[in-house]
Amino acid sequence: MKKIIIAIDGFSSCGKSTMAKGLARKLGFIYIDSGAMYRAVTLYALRNGFFEHEHINESALADSIKNISITFKLNKDGIPETYMNDENVEQEIRTMEVSSHVSPIAALPFVREALVAQQRKMGEQKGIVMDGRDIGTTVFPNAELKIFVTASAEIRAQRRFDELKAKGKNDTYEKVLENVVERDRIDMTRAVSPLRKADDAIELDNSHMTIAEQLDYIASLAENKIKS
Ligand code: DC
Repeated sequence: MKKIIIAIDGFSSCGKSTMAKGLARKLGFIYIDSGAMYRAVTLYALRNGFFEHEHINESALADSIKNISITFKLNKDGIPETYMNDENVEQEIRTMEVSSHVSPIAALPFVREALVAQQRKMGEQKGIVMDGRDIGTTVFPNAELKIFVTASAEIRAQRRFDELKAKGKNDTYEKVLENVVERDRIDMTRAVSPLRKADDAIELDNSHMTIAEQLDYIASLAENKIKS
């Protein structure tokens, strides 16, 4: 089977990673969660005291960035997990503490430069599905297939609210919606690699689609590209 690069970008909490993971599994491709890499750098910065209140000690982080190695390994169920310097950090990078510090880290040009270089290396052999915000625009502008996922802010907030509730968290729907809207604003307005649809990306509004419907749709797009 021909190996291609598939870039899946879009807003937060719109189910990109579920789709990307499912697609990679179906095609036998590697799945890379680029957001996990920004989260791992954030965890490193938190652990090493590089946040002084809301201020980031950029020169300390810049000096350390080459020492942060981020890799992905499959667990026993075949699900990829994130490793930072050979330590499994998959759970720790998903905490609220990391989530609430990651946006300013992801906005730092030297962080983006270092991670984009690692992401391009991971794509050298092709056969990869990568999800994020700038994969189709910056990381792989020549990707054979680009999908840009959207859903209304209200629907994304409801999905996130249901997820949090299932985990026993009792944030209100209004608070979650506010957070979704704020993250969209930060992602779209940052100076470096802001979130935007690549001109040649296919837009997929999944507001009223099930996960199975989305997967069928993108799998048929991918299979057509692979055949062509
Ligand atoms: O997809 P996520 O929520 O795990 O992403 C975490 C953060 O990283 C989020 O603030 C957006 C940012 N990000 C980015 O700037 N570029 C990417 N390619 C992926 C994520």
